Amino acid sequence: MEDVTFSALVVFEETTHQFKRTVSQKKLNQLPPGDVLVKVEYSSLNYKDALSATGNRGVTKQYPHTPGIDAAGTVVHSLDPRWTPGEQVICTGYDLGMNTSGGFSQYIRVPAGWLVKKPSGLSLLETMQLGTAGFTAALCVSALQNNGVTPSNGSILVTGATGGVGTIALMLLHHLGYQTVAVTGKKSAHAFLGSLGASTILDREAALAGQDKPLLTARWAGVIDTVGGDMLATAVKATDYDGVVTSCGNAASGDLPLNVYPFILRGVHLVGIYSANCPMARRLPVWNKLAGGWKFPELARISRLVTLNQIEEEILAMIAGKTQGRCVIDLEGKA
Ligand SMILES: NC(=O)c1ccc[n+]([C@@H]2O[C@H](COP(=O)([O-])OP(=O)(O)OC[C@H]3O[C@@H](n4cnc5c(N)ncnc54)[C@H](OP(=O)(O)O)[C@@H]3O)[C@@H](O)[C@H]2O)c1
Repeated sequence: MEDVTFSALVVFEETTHQFKRTVSQKKLNQLPPGDVLVKVEYSSLNYKDALSATGNRGVTKQYPHTPGIDAAGTVVHSLDPRWTPGEQVICTGYDLGMNTSGGFSQYIRVPAGWLVKKPSGLSLLETMQLGTAGFTAALCVSALQNNGVTPSNGSILVTGATGGVGTIALMLLHHLGYQTVAVTGKKSAHAFLGSLGASTILDREAALAGQDKPLLTARWAGVIDTVGGDMLATAVKATDYDGVVTSCGNAASGDLPLNVYPFILRGVHLVGIYSANCPMARRLPVWNKLAGGWKFPELARISRLVTLNQIEEEILAMIAGKTQGRCVIDLEGKA
C-alpha cells in the first residue's frame, strides 16, 4: 500500500525566497506518520493556503511542502478505533497544510483527533464549498449570537465581503434574518454582493471615512471583520452600545490602530475568532448547524471547482486580493 503513487501540489524553494508550485507524484510513504489515511475527494483554497503556497514562513517553515488546510474524503485505513474504512470525514485546520502535508493532495494522513464525521445534511462537496472559510464565518455568527446580537439590534458590517469568509457570512446572516452592510474594494462586485443578500454595499474608502477620529457615529450592531488594520479599527469606532465586533482575519493588516473609547464609552465587545485549533466540543455543533438549520440555499453560486492543475492562477489571484467567493479543488480530477 505504501508504494501507491498519487498526485499532490508541491511547493518548493527554487532559489532563495523564490517559490514555485508543481503537481507531482508522491508515494504514501512520503506522507507523515499518523493514525488515519484519508483519500481526499475535495479540498478548498483559503487565504492561509495562498500564503503557504507562496513561501510565507509564518505559515509553513519547511519546503518542499503540500498546502491545503481543508480536506474532505473517505477513510482508507485507521490505527484508531474511532474511524473505520469507508467513513466520510472532514479535516479543517489543526496543522493540516501548515507544517503537515495538506489537502492539495489525493491522500492525507492525520491524527484521529483532527477528523470530523461528515454530517449527513452536507455532501462532501458542500463541506468544502464551506471549508475553513464557512466554518469561520459560522464561528463569527455564533459569537454575535452568543453575545446577544439579534436581527432587531441593527445592521451587521461584513468586511472583505467578496472573499471566502465574507461571502459565506453574508449569505448565512441573510438566511438568519440579519440586515448586512458589505464592504468591498471591488466596484464591479456590488450587484454580486446584493444578490447574496447584502442590504447595503460600501466601498472600502467609504468604510474608512473618519478613521482618524477617536469615535464615530454608532452604526453597527455587530461586525465580522476579515481584514484587520484601519478597517477593523474604524468598524470598532462605529459600533453601537454593547455591539459585538468579531475579528478573524488580517487580509489588509495585522495591526490594530485603536483607542479605548469604543470600549469605555459604549461597551463594545471585541471577540477574537480562531478556527484552526477550535476545540471539538465547539467544532462539532458548528458543523451540525451548518448542515442543519444554518444550511442556506445556493452555496454553489459562490463556488467554482478546479483541478490541481488549475490552482496556480487561483493562488496568485488570492494573494493579489482579486478572487471572489470560494475555490474548491476536485482531487479526483472531475472538474
Ligand atoms: N481566524 C481564523 O481562524 C481564520 C479562518 C479563515 C480565514 N481567516 C482569515 O480571514 C481573512 C479572509 O480569509 P478568506 O479565506 O475569506 O480570504 P479571501 O477569500 O482572500 O478574502 C479576503 C478578502 O479581503 C479583502 N481584501 C484583500 N486585501 C485587502 C486589503 N488590502 N484591504 C482591505 N480588504 C482587502 C478582499 O475583499 P473585497 O475586495 O471584497 O474587499 C478579499 O477578497 C484572511 O486574513 C484569513 O487568513 C482567519
